[in-house]
Amino acid sequence: MDRIIIEGGRRLSGTVTISGSKNAALPILASSILTDGVCTYTNVPDLRDIKSIVELLRHLGAKVDCQGSTVRVDASSVSVHEAPYEIVRKMRASILVLCPLVARLGRARVSLPGGCAIGERPIDFHLKGLQALGATISMEHGYVNASARKLKGGDIYFDVPSVTGTENLLMAAALADGVTRIGNAACEPEVVALADVLNLMGAKITGAGTPEIVVHGVKSLEPVSVSIIPDRIEAGTFMVAAALTGGDITIENVEPGHLKGQIDKLAQTGAIIEATGNTVRVKGPGIIKSVDVKTLPYPGFPTDMQAQFMVLMSVASGLSMITETIFENRFIHVSELKRMGADITISGNSAMVAGVPSLSGAPVMASDLRASASLVLAGLVAEGTTEVNRVYHLDRGYEKMEEKFRQLGASICRVSQPKS
Ligand code: UD1
Repeated sequence: MDRIIIEGGRRLSGTVTISGSKNAALPILASSILTDGVCTYTNVPDLRDIKSIVELLRHLGAKVDCQGSTVRVDASSVSVHEAPYEIVRKMRASILVLCPLVARLGRARVSLPGGCAIGERPIDFHLKGLQALGATISMEHGYVNASARKLKGGDIYFDVPSVTGTENLLMAAALADGVTRIGNAACEPEVVALADVLNLMGAKITGAGTPEIVVHGVKSLEPVSVSIIPDRIEAGTFMVAAALTGGDITIENVEPGHLKGQIDKLAQTGAIIEATGNTVRVKGPGIIKSVDVKTLPYPGFPTDMQAQFMVLMSVASGLSMITETIFENRFIHVSELKRMGADITISGNSAMVAGVPSLSGAPVMASDLRASASLVLAGLVAEGTTEVNRVYHLDRGYEKMEEKFRQLGASICRVSQPKS
């Protein structure tokens, strides 16, 4: 297993280019199943999760060709309706093939994804929504079976907005008979990106990006060529790195409109942020001010940036309260940060972070994707050497992270550990 080794204390400066968004690419790649022909996607990040969805699409019978950041999916020969445990266990977002398969083949059998390190993560909203569109659902042997000769439009309302739930049901509704209304829908840019792609394919979706989405079902969808939107979480991670190291980083290929919640919080810490066109420049403050953060559905502060922001608050000038409202167990990085000298006390879904003058390098263990990113950030600012173990989590969602940090002046390298 690989490790990342960081000598902390370098001020980062220069330019970094952000990759395409993993969370936008996954549902968009899955949406190819709804078409008969070749879809071409550019700006697709080279990540483990993308490899997993490609493996799944191939398993379902699609022909997938990956050339650098361009992925072509020919779903005309999709005939297999089962997403097996061996693939789904690697990536829970595999559930995104459930609705496209039912819409295309009239049935799907998808392994239940189960929980993950950050929480239980049920899929009941996906299933209830699909039922509302006329599907019959049953569970057996750890799999969900869904079938519908023809999906019908219906009314869906989420108890809380679900990103992949909204995406899955958009794909079902696009080819259903009649009108579907999704209430309390997720408003994340990745949902809008999928709706845009589906509309380009010929779907009739309005209201994406608001909590009320209306879908008028159409008979068929056509293949498309599209570019994946930039990854707002990767961008946010580099923005925090600039603030954390007192650096000056120009972050290119971003959509500043998607970063408003993050830019606002970072500005409150004293960082200077300039957004122009598709670029954001962040200059770190001399003294980082402590600010409170609460994770919320978009356009609120993203839960996927909570761990990274906590590192920044760990070396800020006062007390910060960080409250996690989306996932029940998303403070797993705290114990590792404490081993590096952070002063953090957890109480329920809040963490009180008292800024310390410096963190100290240590061997640490990555536990999930964003927690891993937070440990790398901590290593960048810590005194001495930090070894981040189990970095395969990082490879699920950050393209060439250590290479990008090295170009900005960090002392960081990856070491392949011999298998024992
Ligand atoms: C997506 C993102 C993930 C991000 C999360 C929240 C992808 C591939 N992943 O995950 O990076 O952290 O949004 O922004 O896009 N819930 C239920 N029942 C359901 C579905 C969700 O109770 O059927 C709950 C979840 O437990 C959670 C909340 O709803 O508390 C929001 O989760 P959701 O938006 O569905 O997260 P994901 O789509 O899995």
